[in-house]
Amino acid sequence: MTLNSSLPAWSSLQAHYEQIRDARLRDWFAAGNDPAPTRAERFTLEGAGITADFSKNRITDETLKLLVQLAREAHVEKRRDAMFAGEIVNPTEGRAVLHTALRASASSAPFHKEVAAEKAKMAAFADQVRSGAWTGYTGKRIRHIVNIGIGGSDLGPKMVVHALKHLSSPELDAHFVSNVDGADLYRALQHLDPEETLAIVVSKTFTTLETMTNARSMRDWFTQRGCPENQLAKHFVGVSANPTEVVKFGIAKENVFEMWDWVGGRYSLWSAVGLSIMISIGPKQFDELLAGAEAMDTHFREAPLERNLPVLMGMIGIWYRNFFGSQSYLVAPYSEALHLLPSYLQQLEMESNGKQARLDGTFVDYATSAITWGEPGTNGQHAFFQMLHQGPTIVPIDFIAVLTPEHPLTDHHPKLLANCFAQSEALMLGRTEEEAKKVAGPDKPQLVPHIMFPGNRPTTTLMVDALTARSLGALIALYEHKVLVQGTVWNINSFDQWGVELGKILGKVVEADLTSETVDTKKHDSSTSALIARARAALKK
Ligand code: F6P
Repeated sequence: MTLNSSLPAWSSLQAHYEQIRDARLRDWFAAGNDPAPTRAERFTLEGAGITADFSKNRITDETLKLLVQLAREAHVEKRRDAMFAGEIVNPTEGRAVLHTALRASASSAPFHKEVAAEKAKMAAFADQVRSGAWTGYTGKRIRHIVNIGIGGSDLGPKMVVHALKHLSSPELDAHFVSNVDGADLYRALQHLDPEETLAIVVSKTFTTLETMTNARSMRDWFTQRGCPENQLAKHFVGVSANPTEVVKFGIAKENVFEMWDWVGGRYSLWSAVGLSIMISIGPKQFDELLAGAEAMDTHFREAPLERNLPVLMGMIGIWYRNFFGSQSYLVAPYSEALHLLPSYLQQLEMESNGKQARLDGTFVDYATSAITWGEPGTNGQHAFFQMLHQGPTIVPIDFIAVLTPEHPLTDHHPKLLANCFAQSEALMLGRTEEEAKKVAGPDKPQLVPHIMFPGNRPTTTLMVDALTARSLGALIALYEHKVLVQGTVWNINSFDQWGVELGKILGKVVEADLTSETVDTKKHDSSTSALIARARAALKK
């Protein structure tokens, strides 16, 4: 199997990097150096309602040509088509990867009948809850839903419900509990009335420690507050690819919503895992979310690689990670509604592409997933942007701008957008010594090094006209496909997650040692033994 760092385009990019590493964006943009079509015109692209301005990246036409060549040499198109066709593209788990089938409208799409049937079941249930027809054990309508899940069974639905709050039913509040720290469930339930509360237990495997612990505690909460055991069915539904376990837990068979092993956890919000989304925004808006994602799927499949947003985003990410050596990249949505997008993307990017072994089992000799992090603007500006502007480390940034507000405080919006655009301008331009001297003036020459900005900091600005279910669907699918593109070039499996296993196994051993009567202190290293001893003493008090 090909080692992707030995592909011809990889070497060409290395040589090209040496040529342009010191070139300055401000020079490329300078009047006279940026004739029509300008950089902005050449490097701004559109797909599925998303506009991406790549022009403030450290790229030239030649860079993009070589990056696209690398994508071709790494067979991105072939792997993309294999994924859409339902081939086993996750070989370590022997699975197809078909989250795209969950939003495919064509009846020829894989598993179309099963997907449509499950969606209809979800819609019928969501309508009942939303209309008040579904009642709790005392006949009251449901006003609170509590989604119990973790990782992909939490982050996606939570992010979308939060983002689309402006579209959600005012009769219902959605809560999300994920952490095994009892504080999470305890705090969520503190002000809830069990008579009006519905638990949705979401777990692909239905064996996950955190989820099962929270689900059991929530069941106790219902019964201790008066819900008879035989009425629990009115307050519990389950979502899983393991329906047998859901029924064993005590959830009524008819209240089980199915997902399939060909839907990866972090790609699952489009399935019944998104039941909390559908209950919040309604089946019609859920369809809009799917339609936005499908529009991006079509763009990804059909747009030439040179104008293909997921391909270019992925390849530009590789340019920084593997050639500039960037350790991390930042996502800064200038949208409070997209507050949770960075934490959702952390799982999507790092659980997918934080890998050391190539598909053929050999070890990579190049970097894979960058560290993904982020916060919404403008908050980040008053926290860590200092480092982005003047720290010696270069962090590429995705700015996300929503051009019209989804709330009535419209006069805030120009201020928000102005900050977003000004940050990318400032990061690109920087401030030279000469300019800093002018700002410092003759009285304060000692300030000059402190008020110089290196500039040349790369950013991409993504824009949507409005935050709708459709535009959000397209945005999420854009990042999903970007991950596939990068994973393909790195020649790794973006769809398994063996790296989470060891900690889980050892966690069970340590838990037993924390709670058992006696403990063999020699079993662990001296540090872990001391930690356990200290906690045992505290827990006994
Ligand atoms: O521990 C990681 C992980 O397996 C994720 O991949 C997954 O999204 C999460 O746990 C939850 O898994 P499940 O849906 O099976 O409870």
